[in-house]
Order: sequence, then C-alpha cells, then structure tokens
Amino acid sequence: MRITLKTFRVVFLAALLAASLVLLPVANPAYAQSLVRKDFTTLSPSEIEDLKQGIEVMQSLPADDPTSWLYQANIHGCPNSGDAPCLNPGPIVQATCQHGSFFFLSWHRMYLYYFEKILGAASGNPNFALPYWNYTYPNRDRRQLPAAFREPLWNNKPNPLYIEERNDGFNDGGALTCTAVDPRRALRETDFLTSFNRLLESTPHNVVHSSIGGWMGQVSLAARDPIFWLHHANIDRLWDIWIREGNSNPTDPDNPEDRTWLETEFWFYDIDANDGEGDFVTLTGAEVVDTAVQLGYLYDSYETDQDFASNPECGDTTRRILTNFRKEERNRLSLFSSTLVTDTLSGSPKVFSRPFSSKPPFFNQRRSNVEPKFTLSSATSEFLTLEGVEYDPEQNLFYEVYLNLPTPLPANLNPYYAGNIALFAFPQGGDYTLNISDTVRDEIARGELTNPDDISVTFVPAALQGQTVFDDPSSIRFKNLRITAQ
Ligand code: C2O
Repeated sequence: MRITLKTFRVVFLAALLAASLVLLPVANPAYAQSLVRKDFTTLSPSEIEDLKQGIEVMQSLPADDPTSWLYQANIHGCPNSGDAPCLNPGPIVQATCQHGSFFFLSWHRMYLYYFEKILGAASGNPNFALPYWNYTYPNRDRRQLPAAFREPLWNNKPNPLYIEERNDGFNDGGALTCTAVDPRRALRETDFLTSFNRLLESTPHNVVHSSIGGWMGQVSLAARDPIFWLHHANIDRLWDIWIREGNSNPTDPDNPEDRTWLETEFWFYDIDANDGEGDFVTLTGAEVVDTAVQLGYLYDSYETDQDFASNPECGDTTRRILTNFRKEERNRLSLFSSTLVTDTLSGSPKVFSRPFSSKPPFFNQRRSNVEPKFTLSSATSEFLTLEGVEYDPEQNLFYEVYLNLPTPLPANLNPYYAGNIALFAFPQGGDYTLNISDTVRDEIARGELTNPDDISVTFVPAALQGQTVFDDPSSIRFKNLRITAQ
C-alpha cells in the first residue's frame, strides 16, 4: 500500500493526541491536530533538509505528473514557451491563479494547502509544514532572503532553493526595502472584499514579487522559485493576523458579493483524495476561513514588528536616490506642463508637477480671515491614477510614490509617502489606482498643502535596500496621470 501523508498524519496525530491526553487537558481538539507553519529562520537543520529533499523529489517528476514541481507551478501560471509551457488544451488545472480580484487571498490559501501536502509527502517527514518568510520586520536581516536560499550548492549538487534568475542583489544578501514589506496600510483596513484583500495583494505581495524579480517577477513563472511558497505563507499569515485583530471575512450569504466569495469553487490536485490515489478536487472560500479547524494548520506566531519608524535605515535609500537625482534634475522639475502626461518610468526617479489633466477637485475651500484654508471631508477619497499602463512582463523593481516632497529633502520622508506601484499580475493597458487620501489629509493638516494647484508627485524606483542605481530596469509606460476624488 502506498504510504500517503494522510496515513502518516493520522498515525502521528493519534500518538500525539494520546500523549497530550495524558499530559494535559486538551482545550480544543481541533487545534491539537494542527500542523504548525514556522518562521523559516527557526527551522532546524534537519527541517531545512526536509524542505530541500521534498523540492528535489518533486522536481524529479515529469511535468505532466500533478505532484511534480512544474505541474504545481503551472497551476499558478505557465509560460508560452520554454520549459514546461502552457498546454493547449491544458490539463484540468493550469494558469488559474487569482489576482486583482477578491479571490486573491482565498485562492492562494487553497493552493498552498494542497501543495503543502504534496511537498510534505515528498519530504518524507510526516510532520512537515510549509515554513514562511517572515520579512515583515524593520530589521534588515529579516528582509534578506534566508541564507539557505542563496547558496548555489547543496551537498555538491545544485541547491533546489537557489534560483539564479533573481535580481542579483538578493542572492548576494541584499534586503527588501522597508516600504516593500510594511503591511500597516493593509492591516488597518476593515473591509475584506473592498479594501483589505486588495491592499495586502499590493503591499507586501506584489512589491515583494517585483523586488525579487526573475521568475518571481512574472506570474507565469513565479511559483517555480521556491521562495514563492514561503512568501505566500507569510501573506496567508498576515490575513490571519488581520482576523485576530478583530476583522472578519465575508460571511453574509444574502449579500451577492459575499456569496460569490464564499461559494465559488476552485480546482486543485489533492494527493489524499480517492483513498490516497490522488485526484482533482475543489474548494470554496467558505471552506478555508479557519485554518486550524478546516485545513489543520496554524502559524507559530501571529506577531509582526511594525515599528518601521525606529529603524534609521528605512527610508535612507530613497533619500540617497533622490539626492543624487535632484542634483541633476533641479531645474527640470516642471517638465511636464502639458495637460496630457505620457511618460515612462524606468530606472530614475521622476517628478510630475501640476497641472494634471484635471484640476484636483477634492479640496473644499474654507474662507478664514487670514488666508484660504483647504480641508478634505472625511467622506472623500482621493486617488492617483496612472491610465493605460503597459509594462515589461518581467518586473524587477517597483515605485514608491511621494506627494509634495519639499526642497531640501527632509530627514524623514515618511510623511510624504503615499504608497507603492508594483505591477505583478496587473492587466496590460489597465488603469493603476492608488488611494492617496491619508497623505493628502496629513499634508493639509500640517499646513504643507495649502493650494490644490500645488501638488507634485514623485516616483522613486526601488527594489533592494541600499540600491540606488538600476541596471537594465524594467519599465512602465502610461498615457496619463490623474488625481481625482470620489
Ligand atoms: Cu499568484 Cu504571489 O502570486
């Protein structure tokens, strides 16, 4: 009989449960059955070996085997040519990843769940759990790729965790920027469908993809880089952190959107199905809202360190990029004076000054006896939109967006930071929108934004902490830049 992971789990868990019944009262039996996904940096050497072993076994299988590395990666996305391209007609599950929709978090949770079973069985460790990359930290060492992913060799043969195609700096110990990993904007949203899911997808999710670059920078190849899975485990953990902060998933079957989120079925391959023979199966959102009870796993920690302001390194790179840039560009800041802004973002910062195609309509002018004051009603949101965005599919950087950066540059750029633009999985030709309300509101409150005609937008390319020059940067083209209110 084929020993499946399920068999292992049942035997192991029975033993665990028996032991725990003797030793301590079990408060919640469901939790006693959970695998624990750990922070990669806490894994023992033998747990790291299990991970490498499992990947190597999956990679040794042919691409048409649903438990192979390439098949699993192709469930996410597949390339049009090259190694294991998309098949037409395809297998039952191919290129089905959900991005830019409210299925982003739930689909990737399902995907990891079945992948973890396959990888666990291949690893030979019955208690295997997918680790996560805990980059959500101001400390630089947490934002580096873990060392085991940067070593080309393992036992004198290729290390399955090492992928040469990544942005060079990461395999040399470079770190993600603080703006890439900072989850605060997403975590403070309270509505799952309209805001939280979307913002978390953007930062850290898309930004980490575009920063790592190489396969990770392209939907069609991303899941072939092993760091993809640890990145997504962390995104999945951030979803649970948000839940533990008191927020809730869609639950209302009378609301059509909730209902769609809860009931839409997605296909995967389950090695435990069909009595351990393996088969294609479906899951719905409603079936993945509680990881412990429904899927049998927990994370070792639901903490994040969000004290980015205390690390002087955060923001330092941006300041250096801008300082160099301003020396060269000082006299060209109002370059874009036509009402139609068509431009390209690439390896240098770019500043756009007014006028934009439409005057920002979001200020209510209030008469005071001193000078005009502008306020922003709390019901109004302001959006910066890049219209008609086209980009190189292989993304290897992202852009930090700043509003009204003063001259000379202040020591702390955070008060002017409005968010990130990262185009992983973004539809070609679409309009990219960033909510800039908080930054605008804060600048008004500080008295730094007193005139709606006086707004400038600065895009600063970013990928690695400390990297100020971008060789061969991917580029973004857009037809127009607008600021609008809703
Ligand atoms: Cu489906 Cu991180 O991507």
